Order: sequence, then C-alpha cells, then structure tokens
Amino acid sequence: MRKILLVVFTLAGMGGSNLVFAAGDQMQHHDHHHGMSMMDTRISLGLSAEMKQHQLSNMREHTEAIHSIIGLMSENNLEEAAKIARSKLGLTPEMRKMCSMMGGEKFMTLGIAFHKSGDDLGDALQTGDVNKSLRALNKTMQYCVECHATYRQ
Ligand code: HEC
Repeated sequence: MRKILLVVFTLAGMGGSNLVFAAGDQMQHHDHHHGMSMMDTRISLGLSAEMKQHQLSNMREHTEAIHSIIGLMSENNLEEAAKIARSKLGLTPEMRKMCSMMGGEKFMTLGIAFHKSGDDLGDALQTGDVNKSLRALNKTMQYCVECHATYRQ
C-alpha cells in the first residue's frame, strides 16, 4: 500500500515523503481498527434460520424476565419475582429441551447451568433477602455475559 501511494504521489509530483508516510500510517491505522471491530471470533452454533428465530425470541423473553424481576424487587414484591425467576429463567423441561437443540455439549452445559442459576435466584428471592437476591441475580447475569462472549448464532 505504501509503495503504491509513494508511486502515486511521486508521479503526481505532490511532494514530500512526510505526506506520503502520513497517508500510509493513517491508512494502516484505519485498516487495523476496521479489522478488529469486524472480527467475530466467537464459536458459531451453526443454527438453521428457524432455530435462530427460536433462540432470539427466547432471549428476548429472558431479557423481559430480568426486567420484570428487577421491577418487582424495587416494589418489594420478591414473592412474585421468585415465580418469574423459576418459570421464565429456571430449568423447566421446555428450557432443557430448547438448550439441547441449540448446540453442542458445552453449550448445553452452560445453558443448563444458567437455568439452574435461575432456580437458585427463585430460592433467594423466596427468602425475602434483597442482598442475597441481588447476588443471585448477579450470578445469573454472569451466565448471560459469559455465553454471549463465547457463542454466536
Ligand atoms: C448458553 C448461552 C446463552 C445464555 C446463558 C444467554 N444467552 Fe442470550 N444469546 C445467546 C446467543 C448464542 C445469542 C445470539 C448472539 C449472536 O449470534 O450474536 C443470544 C442473543 C441474545 C439477545 C439478542 C436477541 C435479539 O432478538 O436480537 C438478547 C437480548 C439476549 N441474548 C439476552 C440474554 C439474557 C438477558 C440472558 C441472561 C438472562 C441471556 N441472553 C443468556 C446465548 C445465550
């Protein structure tokens, strides 16, 4: 790239090597930045178009569940929040089946651990202890973060 620029600038008689090197550096910097942001090194689950939709709709429900739980906690309604944690984030037979259809064994193990943490969150909320519940919620959301950092569709 630098050589081409050098030739172009020299031929055009536009001058000094400072200008050429400045242009080259800028270009390189831009390429570097572009390359980093476009590179997705996460493991692909290789899902079909249909499964992708299933997964995303599930994920949106997970997000909604977290939102409801936080809202109910802010209103001191830990009882209701516990029900949502168990039914929407817990390890229901439906969730177990869904996880097993999405990826390999490692993905499933992570998914199952996540849903178990949803049941633990339900248990914590059931005790009525806010700090304990927040710690459990933090743990559950750690799984959201970990899985998203590792896998993509
Ligand atoms: C075991 C893995 C796993 C766990 C745990 C997990 N997700 Fe996801 N989620 C995914 C994958 C894979 C995608 C697709 C990401 C991609 O392809 O870039 C996704 C996508 C999403 C999306 C995008 C939805 C859309 O319509 O575009 C949201 C929102 C989301 N997850 C929320 C959550 C929340 C909130 C939690 C935790 C309460 C969670 N997820 C836990 C694997 C997981």
